[in-house]
Parts: sequence; C-alpha cells; structure tokens
Amino acid sequence: MCGIIGYCGQKPAVPIVLDALKRLEYRGYDSAGIASLSDGELLIRKDAGKVDDVIRKLNLASLPGNVAIGHTRWATHGAVTQSNAHPHTDCGGRVAVVHNGIVENNRQLRQGLIAGGHKFTSETDTEVIPHLVEDELRNGCSLEQAVLNIAPKLEGSYAFLVISLGDPGKIAGTRRNNPLIVGINGPDYYVSSDALAFSQYTNQVMSLEDNEVVVLTREGVEFFDARGCKLVKQARKLDHSWAESSKDSYQHFMLKEIMDQTQVLDQIVRQDEKTFTETALDILRARQVIITACGSSRYAALVGRYLFSKVGKKFCDVVMASEFGYFADSVDKNTVVIAVSQSGETADIIDGVKAAKDAGAQVISIINRPNSILADLSHQVIYLNCGAEIAVAATKTFLSQLALFYLLSFSMINDFNEASAKLISLNSEISKVLDCNKSELITLSQKLKDKNDFYYIARGINFAIASEGALKLKEVSYVHAEGMPAGELKHGTLALIEPGTPVVVICPADYTFNETLSNAMEAKSRGAYIIGVSDKEGDLYDSWVRLPQVDELLYPMVAVVPLQLLAYYVAINRGCDPDKPRNLAKSVTVK
Ligand code: F6R
Repeated sequence: MCGIIGYCGQKPAVPIVLDALKRLEYRGYDSAGIASLSDGELLIRKDAGKVDDVIRKLNLASLPGNVAIGHTRWATHGAVTQSNAHPHTDCGGRVAVVHNGIVENNRQLRQGLIAGGHKFTSETDTEVIPHLVEDELRNGCSLEQAVLNIAPKLEGSYAFLVISLGDPGKIAGTRRNNPLIVGINGPDYYVSSDALAFSQYTNQVMSLEDNEVVVLTREGVEFFDARGCKLVKQARKLDHSWAESSKDSYQHFMLKEIMDQTQVLDQIVRQDEKTFTETALDILRARQVIITACGSSRYAALVGRYLFSKVGKKFCDVVMASEFGYFADSVDKNTVVIAVSQSGETADIIDGVKAAKDAGAQVISIINRPNSILADLSHQVIYLNCGAEIAVAATKTFLSQLALFYLLSFSMINDFNEASAKLISLNSEISKVLDCNKSELITLSQKLKDKNDFYYIARGINFAIASEGALKLKEVSYVHAEGMPAGELKHGTLALIEPGTPVVVICPADYTFNETLSNAMEAKSRGAYIIGVSDKEGDLYDSWVRLPQVDELLYPMVAVVPLQLLAYYVAINRGCDPDKPRNLAKSVTVK
C-alpha cells in the first residue's frame, strides 16, 4: 500500500518521479504528491485524485529540481483529502516526507511533539516523521543522522524518504517491514517501494534490510546500519521480466494480464527440478503442513491442498493468513508452513510467518515479486516468474500459483517432467477458452450488468475456482458475489435465489458433474439464471461457457480464465475501472 519514489541525479527529477508515480499507482491511487528541491526552495504539490488527474490539475510537470520525492496514497489514517496527501512537512515547510506503512505509536509521538510546540496540519500518522526530523536538524544533525536517530522511536512498519532545505541535495530513507529498493545508473540514483518504478532506466539494484538507512546524493549512494556504521553493498541485476509494465494495445492491464495467460505457463515450468523434488520431500516428511495466504492466493492454496492430497496423498490445511496467529499454538519444528503471496508484502502473511519461524517451523514461500520481505524471511522461495502484474485483481499470478502447486504435487511422486509437459500443452487450451467464449461473455456481461447478486458453485477441486470467480467480480465490478461448494447452496443460500438471479455453475465433465448439476437444478427450480461453465452441454444452462476437455486436475486452470473475463466485461459495462478498483490496492502492507 502506498508507493514512494525518490530521484537524485543529473537529470530533471520531476519527470522521472511523475513517471514512477504512474508505475506505482497499483499500490494506491486515492491521492498523489511530489516535493522537489530547487534553487534554495522546497516545492510541494499534492492533492486527492488519481495520479494523472493530480499531475494535470497541479501542472506538476512544470516543477524544476534535480532532487525530488513522490507518493501515491492508499489511505489508512485520515480521509482522502488534499491535506492528508503526501508529502508531509515540518512546521517551517523545510522538510518533506513520503511514507508507506503505519506509524503505530503516532498518537503518543504527536502529543509529545505538540507539547513541544509543533503544529500539525493533517490527520495522518506520517506527519510525526517530518516534525521529528525537524528537531534533529535543529540540533545540527545531517539528514541521514536525523533518520538514524528517529527510526527507533517509530513503532509499526514503514518505509519513508525525506528531503530537506536544511541539508539539501540529498534524499535519506529507511525501512522496517516495508520494501525499499535502490536503483543505480551512472550518476543517477533512484529509490522506491518497487523497482518497477525505475526499471526503464536501470536494472542495477541494491536492497535495504530492515532498519538500514540509505542516503542518495549526486555523488553517490551510501548505506548505514541501524548504529550508523557504513555498509558496503553490491548492486544486483534486476530480472528483465520485472521491467515490463506496458499495456501494449490493450485498454487495461487486467485484460492484458488475462490474455498473457496463453503464454505464462511456459515461463512457470522453467523451474529447477531438483529444488522441486527436495521441497516436495520436505512437505511429505513434515508432521503437519499449513498453507497460509489471503484472497486469491488463498483460493490457489485450496486447489493446492486438493492436489497434495490427491496426488501426493499428503493432507494439509489452509489457514487464512489474518487468522493464522490464532492457530499458531500447534506450530513447531516439525511443521512446514507454505506462504503463498503474489506480492510477498502482505502484512498478515509476514506476521504469521514470523511467528511460525519463531516456533521453529520451516517456511517455504511461493512469490511473484522479487526482493520481497517474505522472501527474506523464508527458508526456501519458489518464484512464479510470470512478470509484473499491474492490475489490482490477480489473474495471471493466480493461474501461475495453480501451476506451481500442480508441479509441486507431482514432484511428490517424482513426476515433475510429465507435469511440466502437461502444463505446456495447456497453453493452447487456454487460448481456445478465450477465443471461443469471448463474444458469449461480452453478451452475457451486457445482459447481467445490472444484477445485484451472483452465486458461483462448484465441487471438489473446482470449488476454489467458484470462490475466485466471485472474488474477481466483486473486486472489479462492485457487485455482490459469493462462491461456495455446490452442495452447500441448499444449506441456507438457496433462500436468496430469486427469478433471474445469476448462478455460475462450474461443472466440468468429471466425477462431480452429475451432483453439481443437481444442485444447479435446485437453483433453476427457484428461477435462477444458470451459466454453465463446462465441456459438456446441459439442458438447464441459460448460457454456456465452453471449456475444453482436459485432465481432471487441470480443469481449475481452464475454468478460471473465462470467469476472469466475465468479471472484466461486467466491470466495463458498469463503467468501473478494472485496473484500479475503489478502496483496494495490490500490496496490502497493513493488517
Ligand atoms: C484478488 C487479490 C487479493 C490478493 C490478496 C493477497 O484479486 O488481488 O485478494 O490475492 O490481497 O495478496 P498477495 O498474494 O500479494 O499476498
């Protein structure tokens, strides 16, 4: 949540920071702002609204300066207003701060600062930071020393950047449990929540550990540990797939990322077989295996649980990451915890994984984003390798998570290569699903766009796909949708079915077909509008979304794709922006 960027170098800073803000917008898009140092002035412009709108409204492109910081906001403390937008400043407007995370003890700090004569102008937790820096600079500290001095006073998780007229020409920053990464290109230096912000300029990056401090000047970049001792760091090369963030000719990233799924499996299978075999053995040997995840990643984990049981004969449990702490008592050194997270930043997961590690568990993570906090915490990381996903709603990363669970489960029976081959052959089936259903889904979305409630049902391995389909629709179209095991419908939810209520029935022609169809019939008898998602025609479908025939365990990967597309088209028909759904952000770094 929230994206921060800083640039210091030879070039005009503002165009670089503005460009970065657009690339960081997936992290939060309710407000944006920028602060720039130029000719002895600290220029600050900010407002509520999407990045492009704020840039236009405040004519940000005209700001001068070679040192600048910027912010895209996802509000946590304080309403979405101009005064709560970042950057925040000290009393004299000489210090500017951009921040991602939450300063949990901000109330106590604020009271102390107010007692000391400081004046606050926003409702945010962030504003304590520039005031604390102000005091340090007044005592004669350099900017980096000020950051070193105040960081231990801040509780919570954060990454922040600060610039000041009192110590101009530099950006100082630090982080704890939130990401911050530095990019270097000759005399140009970048620092951001995500390398994607500057990956068009450089692929040379350096990461910060928790509590380390970085200072960027035109002369170079320096790192310090929490005691202020200088650190020597080597630059690493950024994976090129992470540099790509263009929509190509698509109208939205979500659509592009749905379409990318026709190729993504080729990348996913490029894994080290030995690592998979060893990881599979660790899972098989463990006394208990717990998979923890949130949202779409949790639905992928539910499919994973089914695959582990069916293929590897290994039972495991899936625990929602925000609830994991309440189940942690039984975690010990004989436990394997598998954390599934596209971003590797989700606060609920990070917390659970830390607790599990403290209890001695082995932590294996499945992540897409490189250089994440979760990766640093894990004993073993498996990467999805499917490139950056920009749209807030997970699509290609979800498919990739399913594919990784498929590979892992077949590695349990030493069939990694056969599983890889099957996944590669699925590419063409995914293309077929998209091609043969596109026009039906467009028509369906037009027809159903004004419906207020959707139900998605399925059985067995596809139940999680029903839940994922419903989640996609909720996220991007703001329509109420519920996914559930088909057999559960009659235990309560059936009361909500009225004439015309859309019920999406995922019923591939496998062992669940007849039973699922019986449940669909129960809904149809109450007037439901049945959308059958199947490779087998059924008399009771009002609309039919066609699936290709694939192996039973591969149906989730072909069934989820048209459901994503349906959610996308419903969003478009309802006038919603599917890439930036209201109230949501891609990386959920708060609990
Ligand atoms: C759904 C979605 C969210 C995420 C959830 C977990 O489209 O994007 O539900 O799946 O916030 O995020 P990660 O996987 O980054 O931990």
